[in-house]
Amino acid sequence: MAALDGIDMSRLPVHVGCVMDGNGRWAAQRGLPRTEGHAAGEEALFDTVEGALELGIGWLTVYAFSTENWRRPVDEVRFLMRFNEDILVRHRDDLNDKGVRIRFAGRRGWRVPGRLVRHMDDSMTLTARNRRLTLTIAFNYGGRAEIVDAVRSLVAEGLPASKVDERAIASRLYWPDAPDPDLVVRTSGEYRISNFLLWELAYSELVFTDVLWPDFRREDLFDAVRQFQRRDRRFGGVEERQA
Ligand code: IPE
Ligand code: IPE
Ligand code: MG
Repeated sequence: MAALDGIDMSRLPVHVGCVMDGNGRWAAQRGLPRTEGHAAGEEALFDTVEGALELGIGWLTVYAFSTENWRRPVDEVRFLMRFNEDILVRHRDDLNDKGVRIRFAGRRGWRVPGRLVRHMDDSMTLTARNRRLTLTIAFNYGGRAEIVDAVRSLVAEGLPASKVDERAIASRLYWPDAPDPDLVVRTSGEYRISNFLLWELAYSELVFTDVLWPDFRREDLFDAVRQFQRRDRRFGGVEERQA
């Protein structure tokens, strides 16, 4: 069976989110330090990006570091900061050549090393005109923090209570132009959201897989898209044929 068999290219998810989980367990299974699991996740990420490009998906958002991940041992946190900077520097030109727009979502400048923040800004500037795929890296990201930041900004603007509605909040999220994710995939057999895109995934289809992130490849993304296409999305309404 060819990789894309059974996928209806006219009903693709517009925006896919990925909770890249299971790096530590992948390493532990091999008797390696946790950081080796993170390192092995690099291939999974870029194969998934290739898969998204092959499918023609326009938006991919990946969870790389949560606002809660600061609770980890200091050596692991330090590794992740340096590793993410390194990945960015090594891949940004290739991503740019492929028409990928790189973005970051999360709290910037709060504990994140200044040099990494500068590389993030440079990568966003470098790729800002690309439109083939928007790759958003959720880094120092928390869904609750994002909502808090949106509310802070509308309070700071002096918005009266009567003007506070869903649109007022949605338009102050980190990237208001991004469509809500249609599909969110979480690896490693955990059935939870862990503070990823809380506002945006109100009606996302969730796919959970036991595959550990370092083993994830584009075929796993294609499988998730097939599952997505078997779902019946209702958004609180009724099925069209029953209407
Ligand atoms: C996901 O893998 C990567 C990050 C959260 C940075 P984990 O490091 O959470 O791996 P497990 O869940 O411990 O296996
Ligand atoms: C979610 O994974 C965050 C990322 C993948 C970056 P975690 O491993 O941090 O989530 P929990 O702790 O299992 O909920
Ligand atoms: Mg984890």
